[in-house]
Amino acid sequence: MKFIKAKNYEELSQIAGDIIIQQIKEKPTTILGLATGSSPVGIYKYLAKSGTDFSRVKSVNLDEYVGLDSSHKQSYRFFMNENLFDNINIDKNNTFVPNGVAEDLEEEARIYDKRIEDFGGIDLQVLGIGIDGHIGFNEPDDIFFAQTHVVTLDPSTIEANSRFFSSKDEVPRQAITMGMKSIMTAKKIILVANGKNKKEILEKAMYGEISPRLPASILQLHNDITVIYSEE
Ligand code: F6R
Repeated sequence: MKFIKAKNYEELSQIAGDIIIQQIKEKPTTILGLATGSSPVGIYKYLAKSGTDFSRVKSVNLDEYVGLDSSHKQSYRFFMNENLFDNINIDKNNTFVPNGVAEDLEEEARIYDKRIEDFGGIDLQVLGIGIDGHIGFNEPDDIFFAQTHVVTLDPSTIEANSRFFSSKDEVPRQAITMGMKSIMTAKKIILVANGKNKKEILEKAMYGEISPRLPASILQLHNDITVIYSEE
């Protein structure tokens, strides 16, 4: 596990962005695993400005809210289009976000995993970390879930994410998330954590007991993970 302390959010975004750019240079057909939320916004801005050629890249996102379609401003598909895909030369047909309004969510989850498997797995996965230690929307639980699945969001996640909605009541209670198998079989992982409020959970996740009660702790078992953090 490699730790890089950035002096601020801008530097964190640059360092993470440069790792992604290097990855795409080395392998133009990279399968990129992507996250939403506030942590990667600076990385996506940096990538858009870099002029990197995404024409042969395929992307798979970690998660989506159940019940929000792509036209909803808080859906993760909308977020990805706005923050990244509309600003780079990726073919949108090669960008995948779980469909939170699929009629059969179990089937959607199965198809999602199959697609990642058919791609030969993820080359580089970008992760943030929730204040309850979630990665993707793998919330604290009794077990680690391997496959993509539907999850009930933790009250602390609903609270944290209510900042993006006009009220807490509007935050969806469920999400569909990639499970630990696709994340842990990614060839490389970068985890970005910004701000003092992530410090404690990040330390517990990286140095504490490996437990599904703190989902990000499983990352201790990955052999190519770079954690980039800033306390600013
Ligand atoms: C989002 C995701 C989540 C976030 C986490 C941190 O796709 O998978 O695990 O990375 O909730 O969110 P921010 O960056 O908003 O603090």
